[in-house]
Amino acid sequence: MSFLVLDKLTKRYEQSVAVDSLSLAVERGEFIALLGPSGCGKTTTLQMIAGFVEPSAGRIVLDGKDLARTKPSQRGLGIVFQSYALFPHMTAAQNVAFGLQMRKLGAAEVERRVQEVLELVGLAGLAGRYPRRMSGGQQQRVALARALVIKPQILLLDEPLSNLDAKLREGMQIELRQIQRALGTTTVLVTHDQGEAMALADRIVVMNQGRAEQIGAPHQTYEWPATPFVADFLGKTNLLAGRVDARRQQLDIAGAHWMLTAEQRQALAQVASSRDDDAAAREMAVHVTLRPEKIRLLPAGMVALGPSIEAQVRTRIFQGNHWLYQVSALGQTLTVIAQNSGHTPPGEGEPVRLSWAAEDLRLRPAPAGVV
Ligand SMILES: Nc1ncnc2c1ncn2[C@@H]1O[C@H](COP(=O)(O)OP(=O)(O)OP(=O)(O)O)[C@@H](O)[C@H]1O
Ligand SMILES: [Mg+2]
Repeated sequence: MSFLVLDKLTKRYEQSVAVDSLSLAVERGEFIALLGPSGCGKTTTLQMIAGFVEPSAGRIVLDGKDLARTKPSQRGLGIVFQSYALFPHMTAAQNVAFGLQMRKLGAAEVERRVQEVLELVGLAGLAGRYPRRMSGGQQQRVALARALVIKPQILLLDEPLSNLDAKLREGMQIELRQIQRALGTTTVLVTHDQGEAMALADRIVVMNQGRAEQIGAPHQTYEWPATPFVADFLGKTNLLAGRVDARRQQLDIAGAHWMLTAEQRQALAQVASSRDDDAAAREMAVHVTLRPEKIRLLPAGMVALGPSIEAQVRTRIFQGNHWLYQVSALGQTLTVIAQNSGHTPPGEGEPVRLSWAAEDLRLRPAPAGVV
């Protein structure tokens, strides 16, 4: 059995369902990110694991033990919230020591462990410093040290880096990842930042309205989003409405046609047969996603291998390592990311040709009934 199991975990409030039958199995040492937009139930899920919010239904099992009757203080969890809530009248070392003293450890043991963990988070030199005289990043490290010093069974992190500026945040992400790897502490991180989730987690749980839409490794989830919501939430994407003509084995988007790849044919055939619907077997509405960085921007009139279309540049924005384009094509506006190769790429108003590899069009059947 997995180390931490959430089994159909549910939290209902009078008006709404905050968490809706969420199931998840976390392995020992794994780093999980709960990712989703504001209000999707991330914090509520974490609070139920911590024991501060009581589930309406479902179970939480930690290391084989059902936690229903275990008080928060008995769960052996290290917790870091968005507001780090350090004690202002205590030094960094005293803040970190607090949890150990509550556990009635001897003074020598406390001192040794505090020293050890402050070194781990790179704060050995600031042990005697008060929080108000520390930067946001330093305070965040004290909060992390305070959570880690008790050697928690699970580390729960709720948007711990969201108060930091972009640069510091990136640095802390790398540190957090290294510390978590070094200690092997099973970790559940809550974030609405897809970049953070992808950078840190072994697996991401993409949440939408209290439900897990998809659970998977960052790369896999990004490349193979299970729903348009996941595709859109995990980075920029282009969403297109298409139709598949099964007899001709062809995909139609806004009047343009392409042959289906063998893989696409197979995936769609499975769905058609599972729907047991003759009409779907002949023609099916599909959602198509195409990532902006998978599209190549060529000069107009250039011959491309594989699928390609004419387009016109609407806007072009320079972003340092890449150019961000909005182009008119297929009756809508597509986003294209072109790496900065040093040459000046096509400008606004210019005609261009877009090309991509056939397999980069990710097809999903539109929900049944949608035409
Ligand atoms: N005590 C409560 N009483 C009633 N509704 C609540 C309560 N706590 C949370 N909710 C509702 O449950 C839903 C999920 O809230 P939650 O705090 O888990 O979201 P979140 O994903 O952490 O969002 P954010 O990214 O904004 O922190 C929201 O619609 C929220 O309004
Ligand atoms: Mg929250």
